Amino acid sequence: MDLKNFITIVPDWPKPGISFKDISSLMENGEAYRFATDQIVEYAKDKAIDIVVGPEARGFIIGCPVAYALGVGFAPVRKEGKLPRETVKVEYGLEYGKDVLTIHKDAIKPGQRVLITDDLLATGGTIEATIQLVEELGGIVAGIAFLIELSYLDGKDKLTGYDVRSLMTY
Ligand code: PRP
Repeated sequence: MDLKNFITIVPDWPKPGISFKDISSLMENGEAYRFATDQIVEYAKDKAIDIVVGPEARGFIIGCPVAYALGVGFAPVRKEGKLPRETVKVEYGLEYGKDVLTIHKDAIKPGQRVLITDDLLATGGTIEATIQLVEELGGIVAGIAFLIELSYLDGKDKLTGYDVRSLMTY
C-alpha cells in the first residue's frame, strides 16, 4: 500500500508558501490507518519496548494504537499546564519564540526501553525535546517512528545516533 496516496497536500496552509501534509485523510481510512500502524509495530516489535511516548496531539494518534498492538503502555508528552501530577519539563525553540513540553515524572522508570512516535519530523525540535524528557527520566530511546519526514528541513540531523524510521519522506 502506498501511504502517500492517503495524505492530502493542502497548499498555502497554515500560511502562504507552506504545503501542509494532512494526515487526517489517512487516519479516516481504516485500512490505511491499520497498515501504517502495523508498519510501525513491525519496526518496533524486536526492540523490547517497555513503553511508547508521543507528543501532543498527533503523536497520540500514532502512538496509542502502536502501544496497544505491542501490549505496552503509552505516556503522553504535553504542553505545560496540562498534566496533573509532578512533571519534568523542557523548553524548546519554535520558529518564533519558545514552548515547553512536559511529562509525568513517574511515567518512565530508569532503564525502560522507549519507542517515541509522532506524525511528522519537520525541524526536529519537538522530538529533540521529547528525547530529552525521556532521557532525563532515565529511559532508553530504543526507536523513533514517524509517519512523515520532511527531509528538506534536516530534522534528522538532530537525531544522529538514534534509530529512526519514517514511513513516508517528502
Ligand atoms: C507538529 C507535528 C509534530 C511537530 C513537528 O505538531 O505534529 O509534533 O509539529 O515539527 P518539528 O519537527 O519542527 O518540531 P504541533 O506542534 O503543530 O502540535 P499538534 O500536533 O498538537 O498540532
